[in-house]
Amino acid sequence: MITIEPARHPLTGSIQVPGDKSISHRSIMFGALAEGRTEITGFLSSADCLSTIDCFRAMGIRIEQSTRPFDGEPVITVRGKGLHGLTEPESTLYTGNSGTTTRLMTGILAGQPFDSRITGDASIETRPMARIITPLTQMGAEVVSVRGNGCTPLAVKGGKKLHGISYHSPIASAQVKSCILLAGLYADQDTVVYEPALSRNHTELMLRSFGADIRNETDVYGAASAILHPGATLQGMKVDVPGDISSAAYFIAAALMVPDSALTIRNVGINPTRAGILAVLQQMGAEIELQNVDDTSDPRADLFVRHTRLGGGNQGRVEISGRMIPTLIDELPMLAVLGAVSDCEMIVRDAAELKVKESDRIAVVCENLRAMGGDITPTEDGFVIRGGRALHGANIRTHGDHRIAMSFAVAGLAAQGTTCIDDETCVSISYPEFFRSLMQIS
Ligand code: S3P
Repeated sequence: MITIEPARHPLTGSIQVPGDKSISHRSIMFGALAEGRTEITGFLSSADCLSTIDCFRAMGIRIEQSTRPFDGEPVITVRGKGLHGLTEPESTLYTGNSGTTTRLMTGILAGQPFDSRITGDASIETRPMARIITPLTQMGAEVVSVRGNGCTPLAVKGGKKLHGISYHSPIASAQVKSCILLAGLYADQDTVVYEPALSRNHTELMLRSFGADIRNETDVYGAASAILHPGATLQGMKVDVPGDISSAAYFIAAALMVPDSALTIRNVGINPTRAGILAVLQQMGAEIELQNVDDTSDPRADLFVRHTRLGGGNQGRVEISGRMIPTLIDELPMLAVLGAVSDCEMIVRDAAELKVKESDRIAVVCENLRAMGGDITPTEDGFVIRGGRALHGANIRTHGDHRIAMSFAVAGLAAQGTTCIDDETCVSISYPEFFRSLMQIS
């Protein structure tokens, strides 16, 4: 348990958040499948990404950590063995709490000559895997939910000949898209994944940098696709991981809510498929300035945020729906808190995916925001928040979900009285130093 008191000082100065989780996972996976050495700086050493490292080590990949002599910067070196270099793991691959590890790695395992099994913690064992089993089966893979409930443990049969498919994904999910594309590296024809809206495209951008023949397309109606032509050899490379905008979101929110704050968050990834939170907050009048924009591969910038009383963009209403949802899916708990203290009505639609994240984030956000005095109503695919409430401290139940713990810790900074977070240790999933950074800055 940890207690949070209202912030007594404005948040000022500058802070650097840890590396992007999605890019960190992929840098290990693609580095393992590439020929030669991949050197990663800015890697996120959190529980989720360490699960990815453990799994690839269990398949014979050497992954080492060292420090760069001239500046002491940690470097992760992956000694890749090429697309066909993985070896059979001795036991079930354990992915902990990580949906990204589970789903992306299953795509890779589907193309291997050996049998494998994969499972994770109690939360992972309830998360839907039929969404990857269906397309992988269409590709000729044999992936079975061992308990027959569409969840892990999964058993993956080796030695299957995979075919490229054109898959119309019913959900905009980067984990589903990436799983199929990674299996596509082992297929005999092109693999095309269509999605209802473009989900984060780190797999496409990074695989291309590693040497794969892959691209994104968007048609005149806005439908998105990713197209992979197999056959290329991946080559090891240097990856410099930017700060995670999903982690930056907590400090953006804290600076917006605590009076007189003026905070710079350095080196944050601002890939447009991830940066929806900035657009929504700017629509609500937030003072957020992008400085030192670096437009190389996965773009990044420093974010300068000033305390702002948030209002509704359009007659006091902010609607977050449709194509915006995948660009800010992980930030919705934090946005809900901001909606509650803003002067507007915030309507979130098309976000049913929230129910199958690390917790049921529609139910858990509603439970905790209400406990703090927020006015929120759940809907089938989101929630409606009537802002203008002064929040008060409460007992927060995280349900083991790191993003709930961090969102409501930040809410506690702007609330009256003490907020208790029942289980603060779950932040180790994506941001182990979160509470230390929060204490330092507030
Ligand atoms: C991720 C994709 C998203 C996101 C998750 C990380 C990724 O999940 O919520 O935190 O790295 O591909 P979905 O693909 O299930 O939407």
